[in-house]
Amino acid sequence: MKGQYLRWDQTLFRDAEVFEFDHLPDAFRHRERQMKELAFLVAPGLRGGRPLSAICFGLPGTGKTTCMRKLFAEVEETTRSLVPVYINCQVDHTKLMVFSKIYQKLTGHLPQTSGVPVRKVLDAIARHMIKEGRVLVVCLDDANFMQGDRTLSDTLYTLLRTHEEYPGTRIGVIATVSDVHHDLAGGLDPCVVSVFRPSRVYFDPYTEEETREILAERVRQGLYPGVVPEAMLGLIVAQTMTCGDLRVGLDMLKRSVLAAEHDGRTEVAETDIMAAYEMAKHVHLVASVRALSPPEKRLLLHIAKRALDEEGEMTSGAVFRSAKESMRMSYTAFFERLKKFEEMRLAELRAVTGRGRTREIVLRYDAEKVVEVCG
Ligand SMILES: Nc1ncnc2c1ncn2[C@@H]1O[C@H](COP(=O)(O)OP(=O)(O)OP(=O)(O)O)[C@@H](O)[C@H]1O
Ligand SMILES: [Mg+2]
Repeated sequence: MKGQYLRWDQTLFRDAEVFEFDHLPDAFRHRERQMKELAFLVAPGLRGGRPLSAICFGLPGTGKTTCMRKLFAEVEETTRSLVPVYINCQVDHTKLMVFSKIYQKLTGHLPQTSGVPVRKVLDAIARHMIKEGRVLVVCLDDANFMQGDRTLSDTLYTLLRTHEEYPGTRIGVIATVSDVHHDLAGGLDPCVVSVFRPSRVYFDPYTEEETREILAERVRQGLYPGVVPEAMLGLIVAQTMTCGDLRVGLDMLKRSVLAAEHDGRTEVAETDIMAAYEMAKHVHLVASVRALSPPEKRLLLHIAKRALDEEGEMTSGAVFRSAKESMRMSYTAFFERLKKFEEMRLAELRAVTGRGRTREIVLRYDAEKVVEVCG
């Protein structure tokens, strides 16, 4: 029986899967430097030594997670003695969850977690590592998501000092953060700083040319020829560059092709792309807000609410005074947060003529949407 509304028989997609954010691309170009640096840091683990630690940092959508997944896949193909453990801290955000994941990776099954102290899980992990002669490299992806101020410090401290308590165990840690200068070390307990001395691996935003090559490759893989004409790809690339997040480009491709398909056309048009952008840009907003600390998020929410209030003046001084009523912060801290919003392309700071250092704060997204995402 043929459906009246759903049509499966006509599609412009050769392989729709390649536009999903969690699709691991075959071709991972323009990240050779980062892959090499990380491979170098992990390499001692291949010879039974302790992998060196690292922090990967950079704006959202610059390939940090993909880089870790690629590297870990390669480690798994190469050896069984170095075990890579990937942890998504947005999901596993407590110390027990992290150690349970490690245990699961090593043994193939989850420990009985309810009511079990971390120590017991750690004991089992260490015993396994020593008996099997295995070394660990643990990736804490989006490490800033660990719950509470102390959790990350506490987890790192335990991971990196395991060898003192269980001689012969070797663990390296790679943390990632979606931030340009988020220096995790700044927020860590001093005792952790003494054991966690990470190399810093920066993921710079892709240039326009790189973005074009990456998206063109997906188009080749995922769509039938001619669906996205050269000029239309150019438009998608230009829109992606406004926020620098590849996910926006991928999402635009998927949405605009779906729209053309729905209309019974075989090519995407400019209107499809512009409509797709209106939706796709929020992917970046969500990813950026996700990367903010709670106080930063509160300030952004405050700014967005104020922007919705027609009476509210949006100069830096006026916003600071109003924000101070409900938040404790110095003007310096306030201005640093503003600069961060600008760097993350969440807001613009415009000079106000004749008013010295005063800036007008202009959100780059609808204030209503920002309130929704921050709230
Ligand atoms: N060099 C590349 N080649 C092909 N695809 C890429 C490349 N870099 C990133 N991507 C794609 O872009 C999307 C975003 O990448 P990824 O999730 O790795 O970014 P991220 O830096 O981890 O972002 P976030 O900071 O928000 O976690 C993914 O779908 C990924 O497949
Ligand atoms: Mg990521």
